[in-house]
Amino acid sequence: PDLDDIINLDDFEKAAEQTLSKKAWAYIHGASNDNITRDANQHMYKRIWLRPAVMRDISVVDTSCELFGCRLSMPVYISPTGAVRMAGPEGEVGQAKAAATAGIIQCMSTPASYPHDEILAATKDQAFFQLYVNKNRAESEKLIRQVTSSGLVKAIFVTVDCPVISKREDDERVKADEKTGTTLTPASRVSAGKKDKKGSGLTRQNSNFIDSTLNWNDIAWLRSITNLPIVVKGIQRWEDAVMAMKWKCDGIVISNHGGRAADTSPPSILVLMEIQKHCPQVFRSMKVLTDGGIRRGSDVVKALCLGASAVGIGRPFMYAVGYGQEGVEHLASILQEEIKVAMQLCGITNLAREASPSYVNTADLDH
Ligand code: FNR
Repeated sequence: PDLDDIINLDDFEKAAEQTLSKKAWAYIHGASNDNITRDANQHMYKRIWLRPAVMRDISVVDTSCELFGCRLSMPVYISPTGAVRMAGPEGEVGQAKAAATAGIIQCMSTPASYPHDEILAATKDQAFFQLYVNKNRAESEKLIRQVTSSGLVKAIFVTVDCPVISKREDDERVKADEKTGTTLTPASRVSAGKKDKKGSGLTRQNSNFIDSTLNWNDIAWLRSITNLPIVVKGIQRWEDAVMAMKWKCDGIVISNHGGRAADTSPPSILVLMEIQKHCPQVFRSMKVLTDGGIRRGSDVVKALCLGASAVGIGRPFMYAVGYGQEGVEHLASILQEEIKVAMQLCGITNLAREASPSYVNTADLDH
């Protein structure tokens, strides 16, 4: 389809399904085991009702927000996804340029398919960096120093929900094609995914450097390397939100890796509500972010009303790269408009100031 015919985020997914290679589609769209958490992330937002307030002057609304010293046109960032070139040749560079134009921010991933300095060069003035801690800690220290030396990186997101590689069945089943191999090399250091006894999962072949000894004490290690805000990505229970607070992290991302970590771990929005209930002080001492299944401007509004400061979106921003930088910019403008209209229909003029649980009804999730 033409870009003009794409009018919502799901349209990007449908277009990608038609155009991507089987391997690329399986890798990107797939999650782990039965894909239950991936689908539930999205469905749970549909079970939360809005509580629109009417008769307010909503002629002027402000969707912007501030996050770790960055000014954003809307409370949305591009979640870190590895090997973005699989979705389109412009890959992370196209995303970075589009993020700059749209006034949002890209979180660059450790297993990026372009060299990190090239992605940063395409970034106007702000980026986040996602870290997978390497078994060889000296490598991680070097990487952090390298990406932060530019001054463009404003926060480090350390991903903690995949200490071992989960069972990515869709990815394992589809044999890598020639095209996938060439799309990925050389920068991503992802092998072409040859079929071996355990299947042909790209994830498994690309992730065995990740340190499974990682634990809370390592926050102190990270703190000794960087003064940037440290954000723990992959919180899936309120007790760990409290741990992150105790370790003086600057933020958390409530995330289950888009369902790619522990399948049947709870949908992110439920964890957000759990934190509201058990330890609301978390929201006062750290930035609480969330990702997984956010596909509508109204989903963004719901997450903010339930306490999130901003949200990440993963797969749709990959599918959009199929249309290059322009596709990513189109996605951002669709989302910006949807957020604005959702706010207006709910009687909210300033998200950062006014978002509150009074705008949502979550009763359907209680049983
Ligand atoms: C991811 N995600 C991810 N997370 C991370 O911390 N480092 C990474 O390298 C990757 N790579 C990656 C690749 C692909 C293809 C996907 C789909 C996801 C997880 C990502 O940051 C985010 O948590 C989810 O994508 C959010 O869910 P949605 O928006 O895709 O539903």
